[in-house]
Formats: sequence, C-alpha cells, structure tokens
Amino acid sequence: MDNIIVETGTALYPIYFTDDFSGLAEAAEKCGYKGRKLCVISDGNVAPIYVKTVTNELSKVFSDVKVCVFDAGEKSKNLDTIRKFYDFLLENKFDRKSVIAALGGGVAGDMAGFAAATFMRGIDFIQIPTSLLAQVDSSVGGKVGVDYGVYKNVVGAFYQPQFVYINTATMDTLPEREFSAGMAEVIKYGIIQSEEFYNYISENREKIKALDKDALKYIIRACCDMKACVVGRDEHDTGEREVLNYGHTIGHAVEGLKEFELLHGECVSIGMSAVLNISVNRGYISAEKAGEIRELLRYFSLPTTVSGLEADAVYEQLFHDKKVNSNKLKFVIADSVGSTIRTSDISKDEVMEAIGTVLED
Ligand code: NAD
Ligand code: GLY
Repeated sequence: MDNIIVETGTALYPIYFTDDFSGLAEAAEKCGYKGRKLCVISDGNVAPIYVKTVTNELSKVFSDVKVCVFDAGEKSKNLDTIRKFYDFLLENKFDRKSVIAALGGGVAGDMAGFAAATFMRGIDFIQIPTSLLAQVDSSVGGKVGVDYGVYKNVVGAFYQPQFVYINTATMDTLPEREFSAGMAEVIKYGIIQSEEFYNYISENREKIKALDKDALKYIIRACCDMKACVVGRDEHDTGEREVLNYGHTIGHAVEGLKEFELLHGECVSIGMSAVLNISVNRGYISAEKAGEIRELLRYFSLPTTVSGLEADAVYEQLFHDKKVNSNKLKFVIADSVGSTIRTSDISKDEVMEAIGTVLED
C-alpha cells in the first residue's frame, strides 16, 4: 500500500493512502493484532455509513470487535464522553492488549486517542480518519485530548497511533461545510510550509472543490508529508511544531467563545485572516497577497470574519492558549507565503488590531 512513514523520537508508524477499506486487515495484521479485541469508536454520522465495512474487514484479524458510538460534533469532545468510553471498555472487558480504532473526524480521533492513552495507562490505537481535516492534519502526530468548558484542547496527551489508514473515497459522503473546514488546514500548510503548495491549491481550486480524485489525493498526501516531517523533528511541540498552530491562537479563542457553534476549520480560517494583518503591518506580506489568501479562503466558503464577539473578550481568551508562557502570548506569523516566524515579541496593540479586522458588529 502507498504510504509515508512518520518517525519521531519515540514512535515509527505508517500513514496508508488508499481509496477503499480493503487494506485494513493487512495493516492490522502487520501490527500483530491477530486474535486481539478491538473497540471502534465512531460518531453518530460516520458509524451508519462506514462501520459495517470497517468492522467486517477488521474482524478478519481481531477476535472480537465492538463499536462505541458518541453524538457527533465538537460539543461531545469532553471528559463526560471519555467517561462513557471507559465504562464501555470496562463493561466489555477490554484489557491492556486490546486496541482502539478511531473512525471519523478529528473529534473521534482526538477522543479515541485520549481514551487509548489513558485506559489501563495506555493501549494501542489506530486512526481511520474520514473527514478532510482529520486526513490532512489531526490523525497524524499524536495530539489527543478534549476541550474543557470553553477552553480548547486543554486536557490531553501526546500519544502516537500504530498506523493511520486514509481512504480518500470517504470524501464522497462528507458534507460540504465539513469539506470546507478541512480546506482551512490545507491552505494553512501552503501558507506555513510551501509557496509551491499554496500555488497548487490556488491554481487547482475548481478541481479541488469539485472533489477531483487526483487533486484530492495530491493535497491529502502532501499535507501528511509536511506534517510527518514537522512532527518527526518536534514531536512534543516545544519548537518547530508550533507552526502547525498558525491561525489557531485567535481561532481557538473564537471557537471557545462561540461555544463551538462554528467549526474548528472555520475558526482557523478566521484566525489566519486575523494574523495576516500582522504580516501586512510588519511589511512581510503585501496587502494584495493577504487579500488573495482571504479570497481563496472565501472561495472554499470559509469565513474570514465573525460576529457577536468583543475584542477584549477574544484578547483575554488568548491567555488560555497552550503556547502562552509566563503569561506572554506567542504567535506564529507568516513572513512570506510558505514561511513563518514564531514570536512573543508582539504588542497588545498589534494583536488587538488583528482581532479588530475579523470582528463584525
Ligand atoms: P468532526 O470530527 O466533528 O467531523 C466533522 C463532521 O463530519 C462530523 O459531524 C462527522 O460526523 C462528519 N463526518 C466525518 N467524516 C465524514 C464522512 N466521511 N462522511 C459523512 N460525515 C462525516 O470534526 P473535524 O473537522 O474532522 O475535526 C475537528 C477536530 O479536530 C477539532 O476538535 C480539532 O480541535 C481537532 N484537531 C486536532 C488536531 C490534532 O493534531 N490532534 C489537529 C487539527 C484539529
Ligand atoms: N494541529 C497542530 C499539531 O498537530 O501540532
């Protein structure tokens, strides 16, 4: 199977790229899972579409496959749902040799991974991402966890999967709004890592929007490749990996303050739009280029502004970001398309102005 290997200081695992689920058993067999028990964690939208095919395939290897389904959406991404997973695992006598599979978007992946990281002090888990966002970003790199109240992803762990199995055909059933949300992370990779990739997205926007198979495969693989490289160099987010959170500092604040009514990718789009203002003011990126990027986001039906929020509240919320160090904010700023700087040398005025550019009355 076509694959990329993710190699960190502590783990080495493949990301498989396919267009069906028929290679799942082979992938599980390679991990030595013959005869083990499996719990597939999925949400109420994804399970009815894919769980049967996936469990049929994985039953060729695992001796017992159980399915645990939660209500779809970010509002489920909390410790209450995790508690239900623990109950399910205990009731069904899962043990240290058992395995968890995440089948779904980033919410399923982050939560199933967190349950795996903590149940019996850690059991194996595999990622079977079905949303664009999960295929290009969240299933790779081992960040797992949940939200806590209005605070995004503040409870969690670094816990790598044993493999990631990407079936790009799942894009066929993904709702349009969710596809767009995933495009925010795809565009993010272009801005932070590669002008060539950014240009590819911009030039092939129509094909991508029309779900052209080759274009989709190309962007998904390219994003995984970029993420695998960054995670390989900085698994625990102490340096370079922070660039993957481009647009997320303000994005996460908006996401929490809007009580998870907006999708994660939509908030990232708003956050990227805000920090572009800093790049323009500092003379890193022309106003024209920033306008082009915002226009590309809007082409994919992504918001670049948000209503109903106060600038002061957004600013205060930023201090709950995981990158805050000794009460100092840290930002990732694009210094050109395809390149970023990470800096704490940023004034309140700069940040407030950036926030102001994305707030509507
Ligand atoms: P999600 O998991 O809620 O999935 C989006 C929606 O699409 C859900 O309603 C889901 O049921 C549905 N869906 C998914 N795949 C489908 C398919 N093929 N067909 C039909 N419906 C489908 O959200 P998401 O956008 O995938 O992920 C967002 C989450 O990922 C956020 O919680 C975010 O914090 C997290 N995230 C984590 C990382 C990481 O590194 N761990 C990175 C980025 C984002
Ligand atoms: N999505 C941010 C990261 O994985 O580091």
